[in-house]
Amino acid sequence: MASLYSFLTYSMVILASLFLARAQLDPHFYDKLCPEALPTIRMMVEQAVAREPRMGASLLRLHFHDCFVNGCDGSILLDDTPTFTGEKTAAPNNNSVRGFDVVDSIKAAVNTACKGNVVSCADILAVAARDSVVALGGPSYEVQVGRRDSRTASRDAANNNIPAPTLNFSALLSNFQSHGLSMKDLVVLSGGHTIGQARCTNFRSRLYNETATIDATLASALKPVCPISGGDNNLSPLDQTPTSFDGVYFKGLLQKKGLLHSDQQLFNGDGSGSDGLVLYYGKNPDAFWEDFGVSMLKMGNMSPLTGPVGEIRMDCRKVN
Ligand code: HEM
Ligand SMILES: *[C@@H]1O[C@H](CO)[C@@H](O)[C@H](O)[C@H]1NC(C)=O
Ligand SMILES: *[C@@H]1O[C@H](CO)[C@@H](O)[C@H](O)[C@H]1NC(C)=O
Ligand SMILES: *[C@@H]1O[C@H](CO)[C@@H](O)[C@H](O)[C@H]1NC(C)=O
Repeated sequence: MASLYSFLTYSMVILASLFLARAQLDPHFYDKLCPEALPTIRMMVEQAVAREPRMGASLLRLHFHDCFVNGCDGSILLDDTPTFTGEKTAAPNNNSVRGFDVVDSIKAAVNTACKGNVVSCADILAVAARDSVVALGGPSYEVQVGRRDSRTASRDAANNNIPAPTLNFSALLSNFQSHGLSMKDLVVLSGGHTIGQARCTNFRSRLYNETATIDATLASALKPVCPISGGDNNLSPLDQTPTSFDGVYFKGLLQKKGLLHSDQQLFNGDGSGSDGLVLYYGKNPDAFWEDFGVSMLKMGNMSPLTGPVGEIRMDCRKVN
């Protein structure tokens, strides 16, 4: 009896906290506070992507790397100082993540439009990710907002929680599951690699050590860009159409044209792992479009700071 009682109380606490956590982000959070907020972000993203199409990819990735480290709380934006170690120099980010100047200019434009500091940096990343996808021809979806910004960051957590491109399928899946995401989310969100570029250091082993799982023509074409040694920072597109948010990423995986080890891990060709899902999205780009927004919403809802927790950072690079 006592254990039934505590079980019920426990369940109610869990249900209540789930309900509250879900109730706090809201697509209409800024409707009254600052109706210009979201249109301003969209306009700034459109300008940035028109100047440099790759920026759309870079902004999408910033939101991902923010969310996977203690939730979507703007932590990735904090600069290192002599007395503060942030996430920018963690292995997955160092010399790799970009777009911080664009985020600064969006923040400045939003503060002007709102006549004050009302939009969090974490929300700017979430909205800019969606607007980037749209600017590169991808699907639109509703973004929930109302996140607040962290006062902390963790380089260790960034090193441990952001998946590495060397991981195999089961390690990728456990990583996503540890964030409350499913195999479907893993496949759909990896479809973010339909845009953007990767550095040679992240795909070299595909060219020289994984010849069985990479298309021979693609490997030969990439070797001049990515020699056995040197050229670590030379770039190659993640799929054949890196400035179009389309279904080519999944079609490529079906032909062993995944650039990263982690990409090709999603399709082995023997029906194991997530082969079925990759086949499905390869044949149905419309389904990828539909499902991308659903998975992005899930990722964007990972442990946001809301209510009185955290702050609205004045400068995305430092705590108030
Ligand atoms: C599944 C696990 C993932 C792994 C192992 C992974 C790994 C990587 C790596 C190694 C790069 C290239 C970085 C460089 O060479 O500097 C990259 C780029 C990129 N990633 Fe991922 N990623 C994953 C999931 C995601 C997700 C979920 C998204 C977003 C939904 C995403 C979006 C991007 C984008 C857009 C780029 C290109 C960025 C640019 O051109 O600036 N990735 N990723
Ligand atoms: C980040 O990259 C810079 C430049 O390549 C390097 O000097 C620095 O040691 C790296 N930081 C860490 C923490 O690895
Ligand atoms: C995947 O990687 C993990 C961690 O490195 C390793 O323990 C596991 O054996 C690997 N699984 C397969 C199927 O190769
Ligand atoms: C290929 O694999 C070997 C043995 O695991 C390793 O020593 C070498 O560094 C790898 N080469 C590349 C280019 O990744």
